[in-house]
Amino acid sequence: MALTLPRWIAHRGGGVLAPENTLAGIRLAAAMGFRAVEFDVMLSADGTPVLIHDESLERTTNGRGLVCETGDSELFALDAGNGEPIPHFIEAARVCRALGLLANVEIKPAAGHERATAEKVARLAAEIWYDAPGQVLISSFVPEAIEIARDLAPALPRSLLFEVVPADWPVLFTQMQATALHCDADHLSDEVLRQAATLDVPVVCYTVNDPVAAQALLNRGVSAFFTDRLDLFAAQAG
Ligand code: G3P
Ligand code: MG
Repeated sequence: MALTLPRWIAHRGGGVLAPENTLAGIRLAAAMGFRAVEFDVMLSADGTPVLIHDESLERTTNGRGLVCETGDSELFALDAGNGEPIPHFIEAARVCRALGLLANVEIKPAAGHERATAEKVARLAAEIWYDAPGQVLISSFVPEAIEIARDLAPALPRSLLFEVVPADWPVLFTQMQATALHCDADHLSDEVLRQAATLDVPVVCYTVNDPVAAQALLNRGVSAFFTDRLDLFAAQAG
């Protein structure tokens, strides 16, 4: 499936320049010239996919408790920073489409909600990007979620995502019919890069906030990056 991956992907929406995983962050990334954003998607207690990173509300909102135990009426009234609400996944997707941003949708299930989260997000993504599959990229640390995305949204590209890439990643990559390999820059081995080059698999690293580190990774064969420092990389993002 056709996918043109920009080199720079704004991490959690607008990185450190806006409240994470908010529409303000996504809009800021686009305004600064970024052509791709990543965000995290989890289910509320009502089964609504929303943008948030942590299973608990405390770090990024003025709420308390678990996202998966909080109903929509309470969740959408919270402040996710600077008065920004927690966005619905559908809203974020529509904003990305309207702004021409490639959306890296990271399925981020709360523990025990892996299948339900992946099914809901994959089905919605297939509807939203039915006519523009090259504008979305689904990823998850949970292999089951990628398997579900493959089965329910086969036309949408997907990536394996690891903190430490396991030795059998090429097998998983083939099973998932994946497009790219996403991984933590701090744990990326030369062996994985060698395998990826042999298999012609693009490697995308998180989270790269230092230009010197970025250049070193590029020299090693990394294709693209997630960054929080939109200010440092905006000039190269277009
Ligand atoms: O998808 C790349 C990156 O977002 C993974 O780490 O914890 O920021 O979701 P995290
Ligand atoms: Mg993420």
